[in-house]
Amino acid sequence: MKIENLKRIETGFYNTPIHKLENLSKRYGINMYIKRDDMTGFASGGNKLRKLDYLLQDALDKNCTVLLTYGGAQTNHGRLTAAVAARYNLKCGIIMDGPAPKKATGNLILDKMLGADLFFMDDSGFKNEPKEIQTSKYKELVEKTTQEVVKMYEEKGEKVYLIPIGGSNPVGSAGYVMAVKEIKEQLEAMNLHIDYVFTGFGSVGTYGGLYLGSKYFNTDFKPIGVCVSHKTEADMLEKVDLIKETNEFLELGVDVFSNDMWIEDKYVGIAYNVPDPVTRKYVYMMAREEAIILDACYTGKVFRGMIEMIENGEISKDKNVLFLHTGGLPGIFSQSHEDAMQEELWGEPKNEFKL
Ligand SMILES: Cc1ncc(COP(=O)(O)O)c(C=O)c1O
Repeated sequence: MKIENLKRIETGFYNTPIHKLENLSKRYGINMYIKRDDMTGFASGGNKLRKLDYLLQDALDKNCTVLLTYGGAQTNHGRLTAAVAARYNLKCGIIMDGPAPKKATGNLILDKMLGADLFFMDDSGFKNEPKEIQTSKYKELVEKTTQEVVKMYEEKGEKVYLIPIGGSNPVGSAGYVMAVKEIKEQLEAMNLHIDYVFTGFGSVGTYGGLYLGSKYFNTDFKPIGVCVSHKTEADMLEKVDLIKETNEFLELGVDVFSNDMWIEDKYVGIAYNVPDPVTRKYVYMMAREEAIILDACYTGKVFRGMIEMIENGEISKDKNVLFLHTGGLPGIFSQSHEDAMQEELWGEPKNEFKL
């Protein structure tokens, strides 16, 4: 269906602001801006609401009563799916990579506060198998768990709407195609030219939407996707296929070539969601220069990528850059990230006063 005819429910506050990062611009001698999709509004905000605008509409059109989705235990997408379900009087189920942690921290606390049902899959039994076997066994476990969870809801008279990990299918990706229109109109109103927009590259609805949207709406800027996890060649092919499928589904009619996508995989750090001191250095820098809080799983990596590419000259200083803040704040308060920061932030001498 033509994207202009695809209905959506605005689950967030739009337009999100664009503003200059004044201190960082001075520090690096380049015009650096930020788009605040961390300010989409509900349950700590983030990029997933733009995808959920379209997914929720589709779920309601199909008379579904449960939004069922997937993710790691700290999924931001799961948290925002739970938020949308709460506001629109639906149920939310999140199937999570498990087993269940002993203590709820970060997003998990918010998921429970928002009333989501959490289902943990114990994949520890095949963690030491070769990668290919792991992948196929994991897929099998996801399918089996989904069938059981759907059956459980259906037995209670519910109708389940399945949302893939990250909300990244052609319906959800429409959110970031249309975000390009929003950005383009904002930049025109600000009389501002942007050369590059930096975003995370995870389940790819965000980057894919921006890539397609920038072609469809004929923008001056090019999106750059910074990987948040190590991706194999097969993963990349799958992601490019999703972008092609989205192009067809939304009848955008643009050319999709993997070799004109700008994707950087050098800034993942140790691995997906593994606390990493280099990424944290950039999280602290953004906080101390601009009072904007990034997270160490997604946005910290993208920011690191952007700064290092400016420093090493891949992005020249006569260019104007826009950093898309995609949210993720609760991840800072997840167990492993909290633990990793204790020594750095709390281990310093403390100033204590007594009367
Ligand atoms: C905070 C944050 N930023 C970026 C991303 C990556 O977006 P996408 O999955 O659309 O590639 C995610 C995905 O979960 C996220 O939670």
